[in-house]
Amino acid sequence: MIGEGISRTDGPIKVTGRAAYSAERPEAGATLHGFVLGAGIAKGRVARIETVAAEAAPGVRLVWTHRNAPEQGAAEGIEGDMMERARPELASDRITYYGTPVAFVVAESFEEARAAAGLIEVEYEVEAGAFELGDIGPETRWRRPSRAGDVDAAMREGPATVEATYTTPYHFSQPMELHACIADWREGHLTLHLTAQMVNQITVGLGKTLRLDPSAITIDSAYVGGGFGSKIVLHAEAVLASLATMALGQPVKLMLTRRQIFTLVGHRPASISRVRLAATPDGRLTALGHEAIIQVRTDDAWNEGVSTVGNALYAAPNRLTRQAHRQLDVQPGEPVRGPGELPGLMVLESAMDELAEKLGMDPVELRLRNDTDYDPEKRLPLSARRLADCLREGAEQFGWRDRPTVPASRRDGRWLIGYGVASSMRGHFQTSAEVLVRIDPDGWVIVRSDMTDIGTGTYTIVAQVAAEALGVPMSQVKVELARTDHPKGNGAGGSWGAANTTVATDRACAALRERIRAVAGTSYNDIFAEVRRHFPDGLEETGKTLDNSEDPNYRTHAQYTYGASFSEVGVDIDTGEVRLRRMLGVFAAGRILNAKTARSQLIGGMIWGVSAALHEAGVLDPRHGHWVNGDFAEYLIPTHADIPAIDAIMLEDFDDKANHLGVKGIGELGAGGTGGSVANAVYNATGVRVRDFPITLAKLLPGLPAR
Ligand code: MOS
Repeated sequence: MIGEGISRTDGPIKVTGRAAYSAERPEAGATLHGFVLGAGIAKGRVARIETVAAEAAPGVRLVWTHRNAPEQGAAEGIEGDMMERARPELASDRITYYGTPVAFVVAESFEEARAAAGLIEVEYEVEAGAFELGDIGPETRWRRPSRAGDVDAAMREGPATVEATYTTPYHFSQPMELHACIADWREGHLTLHLTAQMVNQITVGLGKTLRLDPSAITIDSAYVGGGFGSKIVLHAEAVLASLATMALGQPVKLMLTRRQIFTLVGHRPASISRVRLAATPDGRLTALGHEAIIQVRTDDAWNEGVSTVGNALYAAPNRLTRQAHRQLDVQPGEPVRGPGELPGLMVLESAMDELAEKLGMDPVELRLRNDTDYDPEKRLPLSARRLADCLREGAEQFGWRDRPTVPASRRDGRWLIGYGVASSMRGHFQTSAEVLVRIDPDGWVIVRSDMTDIGTGTYTIVAQVAAEALGVPMSQVKVELARTDHPKGNGAGGSWGAANTTVATDRACAALRERIRAVAGTSYNDIFAEVRRHFPDGLEETGKTLDNSEDPNYRTHAQYTYGASFSEVGVDIDTGEVRLRRMLGVFAAGRILNAKTARSQLIGGMIWGVSAALHEAGVLDPRHGHWVNGDFAEYLIPTHADIPAIDAIMLEDFDDKANHLGVKGIGELGAGGTGGSVANAVYNATGVRVRDFPITLAKLLPGLPAR
């Protein structure tokens, strides 16, 4: 049963509209409705705010500004764990990013709340802000360099070298389901229907903000319509809806608008990378340098590891990776779809393509020649290193040998055709998690965890593992997720949810089998009959997954997942329009729990790669610090027409160092270096190397070959 491509157990209720998302939970009953008014400047203070008209508007129950909002716990800066940090809102007149909430209205209907918010007059005292990332230069203050040998010397020696600067833009998670919360305060207990990836961590931060013990807060996130990192940390909707229900004694719903998610929820920081590679004539890397500046907010520490993700990708005796922060007056960065790897590998894998070109070497061969089985940062051997297998299998299946070896040499009518390849790699993180499994005598296995299913298939894979471990059909397993009163795990994020949750589930089932074996032996046919006979009240056990830091295998082996992606693009010779024609990803990510949901995750990740290479860019106005394209009309993401039939192959794999199930995370691996394979295909098609992502028509046009 484990591994089978079983369709999602929650599929039917989702496609028939019976799965209730946070803003639609029927058990919440009738609610009041909130609306946030965000600042129209990026830095300064509220000089005057006039709310009389809003207070008198129809249906309005409450209007808060910094002058009358309830006292909250103090904001925490970089010293606080970002996942458990307090987030007071309307706590002062200060505006620190465009869209900072300056007022909150609660009314009987959404329309009344929004209309009343429109009646609030705000005058600002504007201060000049910093909104541009600048350049890498002698004054750049690098943090915590990781160094081996001497990259400068190796670059002087060469003989083949690449030194290039790449830039990647701001990205937004922007899941389909808008950020929403229904908060209900009754008899000293706060219940939230909140769309979230990590429910337990949010109760900690929310508790600090509201000055409530986390035990007085229950969060329920049973169905989540995508997260992509944006539902990991506490945001304004949970804080303001909670404060309002506590003040009014009625349930309050607050759903952010699509535009507000661009300002009230964090983004992926923009980055500037300097990559330096040196190699011998036969393609052995002698130097690998990756230095990156990323945007951060003054009081925040989200450090997207753009420069460090290639550390264990290739062998090179001389290495330097380091990162610098540029403080800008925008909201803090947050995890967004493959943080670190997505921009970092797109850049590094483009530079590898430049090196292959200089060497006159097949880019697949260059990567194979620099394969390694050692992590130079952790100083550990790599477990289940399968990069070479992914590259070889991909090259074979894709037909890489037919690639145009000379850039801009192949045409199909008006289309210039190119092929590109890139490697992917992603850390396997495992954190402590507990899962409870209960066998009811009336014929149900019930699995309980606070893990969320953000559309990834958690409900299904957990049921598969429990069914297999107990020898019962999946139809007799009920999986109950995403409540803070369930055993604590670490939620959905960092691609750790599947391994964390299924390892703990399997251990709980093993403990149950052991208890049944002790009284019934091993030769029983019907586990429920034995439970009825020996445990008339049912039987339950909790299983645990060890955190990496407690796992002895993690001290002896560096654990990652691997992949390779191959792209074919066409570029219109007249307009520079880029169309992906086909793409293949080959991945080795440990044992696959469900071939269908895993493939879907990987293909989703590959589409993010296409999107990063060709479409997505948040544009920050350098004068006023607002998002110029903060909506779905202007922030481009791929549509169906941009993505032809693409495929993902999963190699048979099992990482016995990761855990006893051999399972690793898969959610973000698909993105990996995929953007790089698209960029490299564009170069191969046109001979134009665009180092400023995304690759748009305007950047390609000046260099396109003559018709
Ligand atoms: Mo992920 S960006 O850790 O949801």
